Amino acid sequence: MKLIFATNNQHKVDEIRSVVGNNLQIITLKEAGIDIDIPEPYETLEKNAWSKSKTIFDMTGINCFSEDTGLEVEALGGEPGVKSARYAGDNRSFDANIEKLLSNLAGRADRSARFRTVISLLIDGIETQFEGICNGKIIEEKRGDQGFGYDPVFIPIGSDKTFAEMDMIEKNEFSHRKKATQKLVAFLNTL
Ligand code: IMP
Repeated sequence: MKLIFATNNQHKVDEIRSVVGNNLQIITLKEAGIDIDIPEPYETLEKNAWSKSKTIFDMTGINCFSEDTGLEVEALGGEPGVKSARYAGDNRSFDANIEKLLSNLAGRADRSARFRTVISLLIDGIETQFEGICNGKIIEEKRGDQGFGYDPVFIPIGSDKTFAEMDMIEKNEFSHRKKATQKLVAFLNTL
C-alpha cells in the first residue's frame, strides 16, 4: 500500500520507514511535491494529528497519515505536551526548548516524563488513530548528538542512555513512535 506521510520532519520519516520496512510505501510531502507548513492549532495531539492528515487528504485525495508527538513531564503538569515544538517560542529551536525545559525543572525531584505519539490515518476519508507511549525521565544536562528534539535529555525506562546516545535501532527498542507505527501496520494488514 502507498500512503503520504504528512510531515516535513525527516527524522520522523526515517524512524517510521525503519519500522515499516517494505510493508508500506511511504511518500513524503516533498516527494509528493507539496510544500506547506501544516498548521497545528489545536490543544490536543489527537486533534492536531487529525488536522494534519485531513489537510493533506483534502488537498490530494490520496490516503495518508500524520503523527503528532508531545513530551509530557509529570512535575510540569504534562507540559510541554502539545506545545513541545514551540515551547520556547515560534522559531522551533531544539536547544532553546531544552533550555526552557531544564530551567523549569531545576530543583525538582520528580523528573519523570513520557513521550506520547498519536498517529492519524485517513483511508478513503475515514480516520483511525494509534497511540504509542514511552516512559522515562529528564536528566539535568544534554548527552549525545543523535536524533532530534528533546532526545539529548530523555532516558527511557530500561536504559541508562539518552535517546541521543542511541542509534535508530536502539531508540526503536523503546520508542513511542515505533509503538504507534506497529499498531498502524497491524491495522493496515487487516484491510
Ligand atoms: P510535532 O509532533 O511535529 O508537533 O513535534 C513536537 C516536538 O516534539 C518536536 O519538535 C520535537 O521537539 C519533539 N519530539 C517529537 N518527537 C520526538 C522524539 O522522538 N524525540 C525527541 N523529541 C521529539
